[in-house]
Amino acid sequence: MKIIVCKDYDAVSKKGASIVKDAISMYRKPKLGLATGSTPEGLYRELIAMNQSGELNFEHAETVNLDEYVGIDSSNEQSYHYYMYENLFNHINIRPEHIHIPLAEGDRLDKAVAHYNAELDYVGRRDIQILGMGHNGHIAFIEPSDKLSLRTCVVELTPETIAANSRFFASEDDVPRQAITMGIKDILNTDTLLIMATGEGKAPTVKRLIEGKRLNTHFPASMLHLHTNAILLVDEAAYSLVEDVHE
Ligand code: GLP
Repeated sequence: MKIIVCKDYDAVSKKGASIVKDAISMYRKPKLGLATGSTPEGLYRELIAMNQSGELNFEHAETVNLDEYVGIDSSNEQSYHYYMYENLFNHINIRPEHIHIPLAEGDRLDKAVAHYNAELDYVGRRDIQILGMGHNGHIAFIEPSDKLSLRTCVVELTPETIAANSRFFASEDDVPRQAITMGIKDILNTDTLLIMATGEGKAPTVKRLIEGKRLNTHFPASMLHLHTNAILLVDEAAYSLVEDVHE
């Protein structure tokens, strides 16, 4: 895993955007994997600026998103659909039919899972996948567990994740208890994996990712070590607890 340490959140956002640009600008039909959360918001602002200045073209780009809450309407402001349109899609020249986000609104969750796996298979291997991490090492919505799914699945959110994500909802009770998420194999199906973490709150997670020497299903981010072109992009605060960088 290649590690890049930048000064602060803004520098991470700029560096992240330049890595994305390098990974996709040579392709007429780039394929991007996208993430939600606070971490990539600055990177998305940079991509919007690049698109609006003509530096980066999304006209033929295809995107897939990692995850979505179960039982939340896509027009709900807390949904990841809403987040993606607000933070990126409404401001760039992407075609709506090229946007793929899992959706689990109805009661047929098995259908939603099969449908998203089919969409992922249709898009195929991405050029780059952007990824954040939860404090407990969850990636997308793959929570610490004895078993991790390879493909898209529905998961129960852990109390830590419900508490961490409650900042976006009126109260913790409003946070959905389940989510639909790509599996580990889906996340790794990309030429470049760009993992981002910023702020001192993520420092223990970054330390565990870098210093952990074993795959551990109770720390899903450890699976990212399996990727041969993974870049960990962090700011100084998130990197502050790292002591041993030898793999
Ligand atoms: C959510 C998302 C993850 C994201 C994580 C961290 O749980 N499902 O994809 O990585 O939050 O979010 P943040 O970047 O806000 O710390």
